Amino acid sequence: WPPMGLLLLLLLCVSGLQAEGESEEQKCLQEGRNLTVTCPYNINKYAFSLKAWQRVRSDGSLETLVITETRNADLNVAQAGRYLLEDYPTEAIIKVTMTGLQRGDAGLYQCVIHLTSQNLVILHHRIRLVQCSGDVPALIFVACGFILNKGLVFSVLFVLLRKSRPQVHGQT
Ligand SMILES: *[C@@H]1O[C@H](CO)[C@@H](O)[C@H](O)[C@H]1NC(C)=O
Repeated sequence: WPPMGLLLLLLLCVSGLQAEGESEEQKCLQEGRNLTVTCPYNINKYAFSLKAWQRVRSDGSLETLVITETRNADLNVAQAGRYLLEDYPTEAIIKVTMTGLQRGDAGLYQCVIHLTSQNLVILHHRIRLVQCSGDVPALIFVACGFILNKGLVFSVLFVLLRKSRPQVHGQT
């Protein structure tokens, strides 16, 4: 019956996603579309630092896709192929645009403050691009991420467990 199905789904969510940590945000990869990500940063510390957009490979190694080369006070723009990075120091945000998304773009990404190649500050949530169209597991994955991010899963589990617990200490 539905509550048990929901319970199983939530358990799957928890077991499948607990390894991911809470610092990830899942997004559907929509082929042909553009992806825009905004990463806020600490203006006092990093207004004049270089900023980069990186892909985190499955082995954990990093690939810098685009990196700023200027340290202007108002706007720094860098473009490399389909990757555009705009740094607005006055607003303390980085805006990254990936144009013309492709299947192969699925994966994990991060905005970083690039102090040196060995000294990076990871900003905001990392972004995980997931293939969604017609793919039920990926949809569940994204839905799970959403639920977990909202911190609802444990309260829902708690309610369900309470409801399904047999009344052991009934009337005497
Ligand atoms: C994606 O971005 C490019 C460059 O800014 C723009 O020319 C194009 O119209 C955008 N495509 C979509 C689907 O928004």
